[in-house]
Amino acid sequence: MRIVLASNNQGKLRELKDLLSSDVEIMTAGELGLELPEETGATFEENAFLKAHAIAEATKQIAVADDSGLEVDALHGAPGVRSARFAGEPSDDARNNALLLAKLTGVPAKQRTGRFQSVVAVVGPQGEAFSAHGSIEGEILEEPRGSGGFGYDPLFLIDGYNRTMAELSLDEKNAISHRARAFRGVVEHLTALLNTYNDCRVDGTDNRRSHIEVET
Ligand code: IMP
Repeated sequence: MRIVLASNNQGKLRELKDLLSSDVEIMTAGELGLELPEETGATFEENAFLKAHAIAEATKQIAVADDSGLEVDALHGAPGVRSARFAGEPSDDARNNALLLAKLTGVPAKQRTGRFQSVVAVVGPQGEAFSAHGSIEGEILEEPRGSGGFGYDPLFLIDGYNRTMAELSLDEKNAISHRARAFRGVVEHLTALLNTYNDCRVDGTDNRRSHIEVET
């Protein structure tokens, strides 16, 4: 039994690999020639499960998906689930950042609070499903700082760090990011799910649990 990541993002693949034992085989949906469904959900959780269910059904393997984005309090939670397409299609980081700054013109620093949110969803071959959430708080700057990361990273000053997400090394970001926190939230149960399938393959008996209850 292998894990299929419902994403083609190599950064996410690396993050997940870092958290799992090195003998776990992980492939991306793209490597298997699979298309991801459209993200039509109203929440990060809905979108993460949309992707994970689609890939689990198509592959009969364990699927892992994440959905993430930025919520800004002064914009009532926008861009939220629309983070990637905030300034329209096709998704463009520079245009998204420019629009975010335009919408926050004149908003003082203290009111520019927000957070990156991520939900990681796991769906097994028999519909076993669980998820975990991760977030990181910060403030939206008036000008970009740093050259690392992607998306809104250069505008996001991390609470308590005096650095933006784009001023962190990849390892530093992966230690504290919303997505890493969400990945860490599912790792224990993901490993257990993987083991139930692998145990069953080794001794020939069906000792799978029919349902794994996890709510984080
Ligand atoms: P997705 O969940 O990978 O589709 O990400 C949705 C969008 O949210 C991205 O296109 C970015 O605009 C934003 N986003 C998600 N995670 C991050 C991050 O770690 N840094 C910066 N932007 C992010």
